[in-house]
Amino acid sequence: MAKISSIQDLQEAAKAKLSKGVYDYYSYGAMDMITVADNSNAYNRYQIRPRVLRDVSKIDTGVEVFGKKYAYPIFVAATALQKLADVEGEVASARATTKNNLVYSLSSISTSSIEEVADGVSTPNLWFQLSVFKDKHYNLSLIRRAEKAGYKAILVTVDMPYSGRRLPEFRQPLTVPEHLTLKNLTSLGSKEGSSEYNKDSVYKRVVDNINSAFTWEDLKWLKQQTKLPMLAKGILNPRDAELVVLNGLDGIIVSNHGGRQLDGVSSTIDALPNIVDAVGGKIPVFVDGGIRRGTDVFKALAFGAQAVFVGRPNLYGLAYGGQKGVELMLNLLFKEFELAMALAGCSSLKDINRSYIQQTPQLTC
Ligand code: FNR
Repeated sequence: MAKISSIQDLQEAAKAKLSKGVYDYYSYGAMDMITVADNSNAYNRYQIRPRVLRDVSKIDTGVEVFGKKYAYPIFVAATALQKLADVEGEVASARATTKNNLVYSLSSISTSSIEEVADGVSTPNLWFQLSVFKDKHYNLSLIRRAEKAGYKAILVTVDMPYSGRRLPEFRQPLTVPEHLTLKNLTSLGSKEGSSEYNKDSVYKRVVDNINSAFTWEDLKWLKQQTKLPMLAKGILNPRDAELVVLNGLDGIIVSNHGGRQLDGVSSTIDALPNIVDAVGGKIPVFVDGGIRRGTDVFKALAFGAQAVFVGRPNLYGLAYGGQKGVELMLNLLFKEFELAMALAGCSSLKDINRSYIQQTPQLTC
């Protein structure tokens, strides 16, 4: 394979390495994948309006989030089942990410435990993604484990009262190989120590236990149970963004779950500006979905995102080369983003704002 020079190359290299079942699980989205495609394509509906003759000999990409400085506004999103891509799975991803002084978010549905990931990194820039299960004590126990292991924030996924319909998995449910377990969820939905669920598909195990009755009241209660910053992940509607603020949460991730939940929803970059406006600077707003280029990161920041998260690029890097593959993925984005900043005339993140972007004019014939 020729030199990997973009996230697109990395995706192709990962596809060549992974089994069809695993590649489909990672790359697919809901139904016709209109939203998956639009998450990326929507970035082309915006153009950068560069400024020139500014001193861009030094570029500062540092960003502060909840009082801590990170090297780039490019964080890693929570994605499930990373040992399907690499023997070290989430630990390798977390090492690559935190070594670069970025945030790594660990999925509840991970194949390495909360504690293994914390023990595996030297810089604990870890956030824990909570899938909300029916048993609120179970949810609390996951939060306590994350607190004890030194995680710095809790991301509550709010866009998954049910699992979206992804056609390859609908046809052939994904089975997790015998040697892999959902390390955080070994006792979920079964009596302590029971192996009742061990042979079930990943769907049955997790989806049977997702709390589809979870409401704003419950989220407010959950927020009161921890001192860690808590963010709502999966907001697309400005009205919901206002409710996140009203309920006292500390941040928002504008997300459509990488197009894996409801097909036909808005792309996240299209949803972002209205949400930023609705929040009015009261809490930070982040975005994920379809970000594959440094210019995408630039555009998201120009619309007011504090930082972005990437999901599938992590999985592709991991499948391609384990920890080194994830580092390669991050480095591609770092360099592309730095160059985008420099060529747009911005030497620090503070310079980036909406005056740097415009909607791509529509040609009418
Ligand atoms: C996800 N995502 C996800 N989100 C979450 O809150 N909990 C989870 O366990 C998972 N698992 C998961 C698995 C796979 C294979 C994918 C691709 C995604 C969604 C993820 O956090 C993020 O929102 C999207 O991946 C962002 O879109 P991109 O960057 O993948 O386009």
